[in-house]
Amino acid sequence: MSARSAPAAERNAEPIAQVLDRHAPETGRALELASGTGQHAAAFARRYPGLDWQPTDADPAALPDIRAWTEGCANIRAPAHLDAARPGWAARWSGFDLVLLVNLLHLISDTDAGTVLTEAAHALGPGGRFVLYGPFRRDGRLVSAGDARFDAALRARDPAIGYKDVEAVEDRLRAGGLVLCERVGMPADNLLLVAARPLFAARPEPG
Ligand SMILES: C[S@@+](CC[C@H](N)C(=O)[O-])C[C@H]1O[C@@H](n2cnc3c(N)ncnc32)[C@H](O)[C@@H]1O
Repeated sequence: MSARSAPAAERNAEPIAQVLDRHAPETGRALELASGTGQHAAAFARRYPGLDWQPTDADPAALPDIRAWTEGCANIRAPAHLDAARPGWAARWSGFDLVLLVNLLHLISDTDAGTVLTEAAHALGPGGRFVLYGPFRRDGRLVSAGDARFDAALRARDPAIGYKDVEAVEDRLRAGGLVLCERVGMPADNLLLVAARPLFAARPEPG
């Protein structure tokens, strides 16, 4: 079959991989949320052959594309249906060494984004990394005319969605027990965040 292709995924795969090179473990389990066409899954599973890569998406119609893009790649599991905004999913999907999420948060509501972040944090095992890429507001501001146009178009379509504040996203990750490792500027004014679940949970302060 001829699978769909996303030009954005074509463009951002290499810049994302350059940061992943610093954070992806040599071996372990990777969970990709909102995999879309599957282009990132195909590129990253090949680049990190020691990782056991699980692509997922909330849209069942995406799964055949993911299957087509990842065909013949030994370390990719069959794509799974996963709505990352459904509270509680990390009870089933847990213990991952890497969770990747590219270009979803601006397309969903604040409440759904909060759930995605909390569940993604819970899906990580000790030492696991959450890598999150997309467009964001910074200090409440959109940083370019292109971002302002895109955010306005999203909000015109649905007032509940649109760019999220990167500071609020980072706060949510901290509240989920993660430690922020990096905030990296990416092409086209996007940002990439890396957060980690500590290897050992801190003991509560003596009371
Ligand atoms: C802009 S595309 C990004 C796809 C891919 N990550 C990429 O960068 O090419 C957004 C994707 O998020 C998926 N999606 C939307 N809501 C979702 C949710 N609640 N949970 C998981 N995936 C979702 C859509 O089906 C779509 O494949």
